[in-house]
Amino acid sequence: MYKILKKEELANNITKMVIDAPLIAKKAQSGQFLVLRTHEKGERFPLTIADFDREAGTVTIIFAQIGKSTQYLGTLPEGGEILDVVGPLGVASHFDPSIKKAAVIGGGLGCAIALPQAKHLKQMGVSVDMIAGFKTKDIIILEEEMTNASDNLIITTDDGSFGFSGFVTDALKKQIEDGVKYDVVVAIGPIPMMKFVSKLTKEYGIKTIVSMNPVMIDGTGMCGGCRLTVGGKTKFACIDGPDFDGHEVDFDGAMRRLSMYDGLKEREEDCRLI
Ligand code: FES
Repeated sequence: MYKILKKEELANNITKMVIDAPLIAKKAQSGQFLVLRTHEKGERFPLTIADFDREAGTVTIIFAQIGKSTQYLGTLPEGGEILDVVGPLGVASHFDPSIKKAAVIGGGLGCAIALPQAKHLKQMGVSVDMIAGFKTKDIIILEEEMTNASDNLIITTDDGSFGFSGFVTDALKKQIEDGVKYDVVVAIGPIPMMKFVSKLTKEYGIKTIVSMNPVMIDGTGMCGGCRLTVGGKTKFACIDGPDFDGHEVDFDGAMRRLSMYDGLKEREEDCRLI
């Protein structure tokens, strides 16, 4: 059993939990994920490690309460327990030590996953611009944490209610056209967002890493649920990723695979890596 040490509502329906998991915290690295099961009859579902503290022996998850399992997880109180937490799973993010300047882009809840990537790059001595996109100002999360993890935080809102008015791609394009030279762009969020960021950066020849979020079941390469096409080859997000070269990913194929779950929305949302 894994004890919930802290629970915080970050925004409507978006919850942060700090979990007592010393063995996982000891090995966790940015870009990796966990598979959770809340109770005996619960399904297994993946969540990205949003943060970890090796000394305190804790890992942090941030999730939207969208399906049955995440809604149930959201009902567990501080001091409550989660039945199983497996991890860390997936390949840890790897960045070239020669990187000097990076743009880390998060879309909505993707900011929770982008945050550890920004921290990782900062710890490497990289200058980090973070571009965080939200539909509207009411659902902005982690503003203080993103400010601390970057040298320059640009918040965008689709409706212009806060910060830069427009999409993350608009803000990124403006940065590039203003003369900022990025060695790498990291984009994490909805698949269409990652697709269009990758399309833009390809025009400018900027290396781009995306964190793919297909449906995952076992998280160990056995079920095939997280299959993707990358560079014309079949890859499994759980063991080959979730980070991939954004210029190589078949985003349309990934979206087609997700559309197979239309009508099973609640389960699909919970079983996708967040
Ligand atoms: Fe089953 Fe990746 S989650 S193969």
